[in-house]
Amino acid sequence: MAEPDSWDDDAPQITPPTHPQSRLNANAPSFSFNPNAVSFNPSAPVFTPSCISSQSVGLNNQSPAPPPPETIVIESPDPISIVSADVSPQEGSAEPMVDDKQDNHSPFEDPTDPVSDSLSSLSVHDTSDKKDYPMEDVEEDEEDTLSHLNVVFIGHVDAGKSTIGGQVLFLTGQVDERSIQKYEREAKEKNRDSWYMAYIMDTNEEERAKGKTVEVGRGHFETSKRRFTILDAPGHKNYVPNMISGASQADIGVLVISARKGEFETGFERGGQTREHAQLAKTLGVSKLLVVVNKMDEPSVNWSKERFDEIEKKLNPFLRSCGYNVKKDVIFLPISGLHGINMKEKVSKSVCPWWDGPTFFQALDEVQVPPRDPAAPFRMPIIDKYRDMGTVVMGKIESGTVRRGDSLMVMPNKAQVKVISILRDADEVRTAKPGENLRIKISGVEEEDILAGFVLCSIEKPIAAVREFDAQLQILELLDHKAIFTAGYKAVLHVHSVVEECEIIELLQQIDPKTKKVAKKKPLFVKSGAVVVVRIQVVDIICVERFDDFAQLGRFTLRDEGKTVAIGKVTNLVLD
Ligand code: GTP
Ligand code: MG
Repeated sequence: MAEPDSWDDDAPQITPPTHPQSRLNANAPSFSFNPNAVSFNPSAPVFTPSCISSQSVGLNNQSPAPPPPETIVIESPDPISIVSADVSPQEGSAEPMVDDKQDNHSPFEDPTDPVSDSLSSLSVHDTSDKKDYPMEDVEEDEEDTLSHLNVVFIGHVDAGKSTIGGQVLFLTGQVDERSIQKYEREAKEKNRDSWYMAYIMDTNEEERAKGKTVEVGRGHFETSKRRFTILDAPGHKNYVPNMISGASQADIGVLVISARKGEFETGFERGGQTREHAQLAKTLGVSKLLVVVNKMDEPSVNWSKERFDEIEKKLNPFLRSCGYNVKKDVIFLPISGLHGINMKEKVSKSVCPWWDGPTFFQALDEVQVPPRDPAAPFRMPIIDKYRDMGTVVMGKIESGTVRRGDSLMVMPNKAQVKVISILRDADEVRTAKPGENLRIKISGVEEEDILAGFVLCSIEKPIAAVREFDAQLQILELLDHKAIFTAGYKAVLHVHSVVEECEIIELLQQIDPKTKKVAKKKPLFVKSGAVVVVRIQVVDIICVERFDDFAQLGRFTLRDEGKTVAIGKVTNLVLD
């Protein structure tokens, strides 16, 4: 039976006709790109345009990383509801689970994944260009009329995420032809000829030599409607913790799929990162996905409608099972990232006669995300910090507004601080709204007294800091050698910018995923696929919110030996 069109799951099934276009305004005004936009720093070294930087999670607060992104619009908090742990790649019908809202998950395989979840695996490699931004020289921005969107590129290794990111920056004038020629030469020297576009995003030696992103690359560009921050996540399973960090800062996701024969299949197999990334992104609050079917130019694909439809048809049920509303939250479109086709300009009919949908840029400009509340109490989880004639913290504003001169508090250490200056990309601004990724210089606290995971917040209504909390967990697939989930289970908790070791200290309730009924007896242990309410204890105090109060700061993942074993939402804070 034919899979329904992605825009209307319930629609009668006719041949996969039209594509996503309906949600986008194909007649939207054309885009005017501002090549002088944001953070292009002409004085930066040629091989690292200043619009790019990369970052991995700032744990251990070792060193600084680059500035984070932000946004203004976001959808209503998207719950973490959970769905069946066993997601079939076929006709996946999502069994909505225990939650009012949705989310879910399928199990991820790969017990052999060598990633250590130790904090040290998340060390910061700061390749940021922050030193290129003297705070004094930046211009004042009075009117910021553009909304801002953080876009994370996710998907299986080698799907083309960095290539697309590089192409976007090239097409928007952030990278010049000469630099591209240099990248071409460098890529050739490394026998990686076709990787030259990816070199725009992959800035360090290891990434370029191996052709694999390790740290989350960051780039900025703008259209006439929006300012964008690109977060180019690594696809390799070893670097999932870095991907989590990138996705947790994003408003929308671009799920990159390689249409090349065999590559889509590998990425979509159980254990493939297409699945894990899509699920994690949803759990981390990414409510909208642009599914970019890439490498359409590849000889095994040659812009085949059948291949595009096949991918859409196979992915839709899976995405639904992850909690995405495929009618409203997902757009599919074909592109060639390497050749920049159907990105800024529409693909020509001679190349792809069947495509009537949007270009990549149109889709980015049109995607709707719900507004955040600029009047809510201020919350900015700190993803990193560094010293630069004072203490500078980096992060994305999750709610509220910050102004130069504001008095705020750093939690959980309750340090009262004053905002000295606010940097958005390369620009110093007086005020910034929710969704913005900023570097904020503060006085009143030493840089060494701040850790990644701390939260800059309002003094009147500070965020809670706890050592224990209750949470509803959807257990995914447990490790083969730790197949029993019980009190004493230890894992690594990822919640906003926090990465912290934790222990399950009590199983409080078990919930039937189908009926949503709470079992009468307290469970002693559960297995893969279960839904439980548990009490969790962390080693060091962390700042979280109840999911119902503030979804973005109350949803989390538990990882164990490099594998995501559960997703959860905070239901109750145990306050002293
Ligand atoms: P990781 O960072 O390792 O997860 O990979 P990635 O998704 O960033 O992939 P990357 O951009 O490094 O590209 C991987 C390979 O795919 C490179 O050889 C690219 O040239 C190639 N590639 C990317 N996009 C396209 C495309 O549109 N067409 C073709 N033919 N090849 C592409
Ligand atoms: Mg990459």
